[in-house]
Parts: sequence; structure tokens; C-alpha cells
Amino acid sequence: MGDTDKAGIGIFGAGWVGLVTGACFAELGHTVVIRDVVPERIESLRAGRVPIHEEGLEQLIERNRDRLSFTLGVGEVAARAELLFVCVGTPPTYSGDADLSAIWTVLDELPAETRATLVMKSTVPVGTGDKVRAALEARGLGHVGYVSNPEFLSEGRALRDFMQPDRVVIGAYAEPDALAVAALYDSLDTELVQTDVHSAEMIKLASNAFLATRISFINEIANVCEVTGADVEEVARGMGLDRRIGSHFLRAGIGYGGSCFPKDVSALKQLAGNSGYHFQLLNSVIEVNELQKRRVVGKLKKHLGHLAGRRVALLGLAYKAGTDDLREASSIVLAARLLAEGAEVVAWDPVARPRDELRGATLAATAREAVAGADAAVIVTEWPELRELVCEEVRAAMRTPLFVDGRNLLDPLAVRAAGFAYEGVGRPTSPFSALPETEEPEPRVRR
Ligand SMILES: NC(=O)c1ccc[n+]([C@@H]2O[C@H](COP(=O)([O-])OP(=O)(O)OC[C@H]3O[C@@H](n4cnc5c(N)ncnc54)[C@H](O)[C@@H]3O)[C@@H](O)[C@H]2O)c1
Repeated sequence: MGDTDKAGIGIFGAGWVGLVTGACFAELGHTVVIRDVVPERIESLRAGRVPIHEEGLEQLIERNRDRLSFTLGVGEVAARAELLFVCVGTPPTYSGDADLSAIWTVLDELPAETRATLVMKSTVPVGTGDKVRAALEARGLGHVGYVSNPEFLSEGRALRDFMQPDRVVIGAYAEPDALAVAALYDSLDTELVQTDVHSAEMIKLASNAFLATRISFINEIANVCEVTGADVEEVARGMGLDRRIGSHFLRAGIGYGGSCFPKDVSALKQLAGNSGYHFQLLNSVIEVNELQKRRVVGKLKKHLGHLAGRRVALLGLAYKAGTDDLREASSIVLAARLLAEGAEVVAWDPVARPRDELRGATLAATAREAVAGADAAVIVTEWPELRELVCEEVRAAMRTPLFVDGRNLLDPLAVRAAGFAYEGVGRPTSPFSALPETEEPEPRVRR
């Protein structure tokens, strides 16, 4: 194999982290080969189709075609790369621990002649690096280096997060391995946190658990605002201006979801529990988040009474705007709860395409189609285009003009002025007054 066949970087996993990492390193001038185990994924990437919705990613991959390749073959990656990034999924198991089976598969598949350093970008429990080292040694691959380099990207703005990171964390057993990975990020203007492997692993878990804690905290404040007459949007603004607090992750809403926060909070809680420590705070963070999703049902009942036979439009299905990722999305729990109450659920999202996740719900092609004839429109994901639904045409098309705004996306005054009833999260609610009599007196809506 000539030097031109050398790819500096190999990547295991063509998901969010693997594709973004690969495309961004290619943009920084490196030669990258990305390996996945799903043949359709690799075929589609070779044909120039990106299997996930992430702004700018398709163009970035296209622009760097000369430096990026995709393969199913583990041998090709191991032979061509000096740094092997592990970006496979680590989903939760039934026990709440992280499922590391994809990582062990990567290790099992590594060819005996591998001469490279493994760089762990997947989110893993503290102690995983030690186990990987032991497994490598048991396989006679003790010369393979190991670095923990957790990823902090946020879906929907992943390219920016990669290219302008708040920090790059590198935990290594050996200085040369740390330096080799640090060199990849040389051209980025960022803070480098070089530390030990255990601490690098913990930085990732603790960061996500802290952000989730902020969300559950502001959601509880919102719930108290609802019973005391304060407006959580004002409260969060006033709190966020305090430099000790800051304004990030103080948006009250329907609860956090996605492929990271729920599983990482649970994994940290389990990690602590397995080590003999009861992480009480995280139990509450998780419980508050679960209850928060269900509060929407109470708000619907407040306005519509029983939900049997009511048609509810779920607007936005992905766990947040800017992505088509449905993992742990609030829409899934909400749809199931509404269907269990006997409601008819019509769901819409501009990019997410649910398969089995929303079984029993009808999918609408447009937001307007979803709300036509509906008794309520529930905003589950903060897609900006949903603001356009606040208009006379939609009011007239709905059977009951009611918005339950799970993301505080809309302006309550404008919504009410347009003739809708409105329920946000932690905001003054619509006063109780029945809608004017319609041809169909039931259900009655209180504004
Ligand atoms: N998605 C995020 O926003 C995000 C952010 C930071 C960290 N993380 C962490 O990064 C890791 C990956 O997350 P993701 O969202 O990219 O996952 P993903 O599920 O989107 O992608 C994982 C990919 O790995 C592939 N894969 C499985 N086994 C493989 C193997 N043996 N060899 C090669 N490929 C294999 C899968 O087919 C899949 O395409 C997780 O640990 C996650 O917690 C994710």
C-alpha cells in the first residue's frame, strides 16, 4: 500500500458523531475513512446521500469527497488509519446502564496487525478506558494506544459545535497519544483540557447531567409559576442575566429527550449506584422530566374535559428542532398517553419520519393538514414555522381553537388576540371562559 492510500483518520460509526467528526476532520485537511456495519448506510453515503438530517452536513461531505471515503470493511480502516475514532452508539440497557456491546464488537473486529491509537468519542461510563485497555492486552494488542476524547456536539448545530468547540477534552494513558489527538484540533481556536482517562470520561457524563438538571430545575420553577401567577419566561430572563447563573438551558418546556441526555443521566446514576453511591439529585431530575411530558395531558383536559374522541394535533415530533432524531422524543410518550385516553392523534414534523415510534397516530403531510378539524394543537418541537399557524385561516379550520405550547414558542397575547385559547409552560394561562357556542357545543373550550 503506497502512502497515498494512508488515511490519517479512521472512524467506526457513520451516525451523527461519526459523520460530523469525519466530515469536519476532512474539512480541516485530513484524509478520513468511515466504516459502518449497515450496508444501506454506506451505499447511500457513497452515492452522496446523507442518512441523517443535520444542517450543512451533506454539503460538507460533498465538498470533501476527495478526502472522505466510506467502507464496510474493518480491515481497510485499521490498515489505513493511524488514529481510530470510535463513534458507535452506546444506548441504555433495561437496567439504565450504558450498552457497550457495539464498542466490544469494534475491539473484537480489530485485525491482529492493527498499529493505531483508539480514540473514544462514544459516551461511556467512567472506567471504560481501563476495560478497553485490558481487552486490548488480552488480544495481544497492548501496543494499541487509547485516548478518551468525548464529543459535546449538539444536533442541529453540530458542525458549528465541532469547528468552534467550547473545549476539547483529551484523556490519555500516554503523553504521545494525547499529543497526536491534540494535534488534530490545532487549527481550532479553543481551550484544550488534557487530563487522565477517568476524568475525561466523567467530564462528558457530568456535563450532560448538569444540563439536564438545569432543564428539570427550570421546568419545576415553571410549574410553580403556573400556580403562583409568575411568568417563567420573565423569571428565566432575570435569572440568566446573573453571570453566576447564565442564560443557557433555562428554557422551560415539555422536558428533555434525544439520544444523549436521558441515557447519559441514567448511565451516571447507575454508575454511581453500581459503585455504592446513591445519586439522589439525578433521581429527581429524571422523575421531573418524565412528569413534565405528561403535564400536557392535564392542560388538554383542563380545556377539553375528557379526551376520548378528541382530535389532537402533535406538531413537531423530533426531540428538538433542527434534527430528525426521534430517540427519546417527548412526542412518543405524549402520543401514547393521548391514544390511551382515547384521543385521535394526528402528527406532523418537517423532517422526522417516524416508523413504529408513533404507532396508532396518523401522520399529516403539513402542519395545516394536522390541525384541520383538531380540538387542540400541541407544539412539541420548537420548529419556527409553527408560528405561522397563528392566523384566522387555522382558527377557522380547527374544531376547537386551542394551542398547548409545550415549548413556549408562541406569543400568548398574539395567540389570544387571534382568537385561540392558549396554554404555555409556566406562563399565565388563559382565563376560564367558554368559547362562543358553536354548531357542536361539545367539547367546550375555556380561554
Ligand atoms: N448524537 C449526539 O448528539 C451525540 C453527541 C455527543 C456524543 N454522542 C455519543 O456518541 C456516540 C454515537 O452517537 P450517535 O448519535 O452518532 O449514534 P448513531 O446511532 O447515530 O450512530 C452509531 C453508528 O454506529 C454504527 N455501528 C454500530 N456498530 C458498529 C461497528 N462495529 N463498526 C462500525 N460502525 C458501527 C451504527 O450502525 C450507527 O450507524 C454515543 O455514545 C452517543 O452517546 C452523541
